[in-house]
Amino acid sequence: MNTAIVTGAAQGLGLVTARRLAAAGYRVVLTDVQDVTAQAAAIGPHAVAISGDISSEAFVEDMAGRIAADFGSAQVLVNNAGISMIQPAEDTTLDQWQRMMAINLQGPFLTCRAFGKQMLSAGKGAIVNVASVAGLGGVIHRCAYNTSKHGLVGLTRTLAGEWGGRGVRVNAVCPGWIKTEMDVKDMGSGAYTNADIENRVPQARFAMPGDVAEAITFLASDAAAFINGVALPVDGGWTGDISWDALRLKTRG
Ligand SMILES: NC(=O)c1ccc[n+]([C@@H]2O[C@H](COP(=O)([O-])OP(=O)(O)OC[C@H]3O[C@@H](n4cnc5c(N)ncnc54)[C@H](O)[C@@H]3O)[C@@H](O)[C@H]2O)c1
Repeated sequence: MNTAIVTGAAQGLGLVTARRLAAAGYRVVLTDVQDVTAQAAAIGPHAVAISGDISSEAFVEDMAGRIAADFGSAQVLVNNAGISMIQPAEDTTLDQWQRMMAINLQGPFLTCRAFGKQMLSAGKGAIVNVASVAGLGGVIHRCAYNTSKHGLVGLTRTLAGEWGGRGVRVNAVCPGWIKTEMDVKDMGSGAYTNADIENRVPQARFAMPGDVAEAITFLASDAAAFINGVALPVDGGWTGDISWDALRLKTRG
């Protein structure tokens, strides 16, 4: 049975992705800073729960060692754990900036390094990093978040080049706004409304976690055997369309 690790799997996109990969036949390791025992148990007997902070080198190295000892080299890694923050750039503190980089960028570097070594030894593996449309363009009041996601796209492209010739593919998905706990919290701050997003997106809706989990599962699979180093928007056309909202809304009849 092939093993897939999903970070940030307690809720939201990570949990839906863990379920989707389990349905595709993987032994899924759910990891999160929250307890994930119940989520793993609900997926089935082959799901494994490991709790810890993804920004900790000691935790990531220990987790990778345990998984290798129990199951051998992992075939798939999904770097999904992340935090968001909405704050004017001039009010963003160094602590906030560093925490963002630690979780959203250092975490994926540590997991890519730890599991990438195993995949390189095995000569096969697929990594999917969950970036964002905020990794492809600027979004006002999200300087730390956006920088972390641009960095994750850069990490993806660099590792794809460095490891592609040794059987390890590295890709990213770049979702638009998804209806998850993160969105509930962000929208609760009053920063935007449902209509703001629906008007901006050509397909006139938020992403659903399942839309993104499907793209991740594809990129992780052998069906994507020659796809390496892409940052795939899963955004209903958001980044492809630079029209102004009033013009877009005219097309909706
Ligand atoms: N929700 C959106 O609109 C949206 C859009 C684009 C990209 N994304 C990205 O998708 C990913 C998942 O987001 P979501 O919407 O499901 O958010 P979420 O807040 O519902 O879930 C994030 C998960 O990451 C975990 N986490 C946070 N810090 C951690 C740490 N230090 N170590 C381990 N786990 C940690 C949380 O406990 C949580 O379970 C994130 O990387 C996010 O940036 C989200």
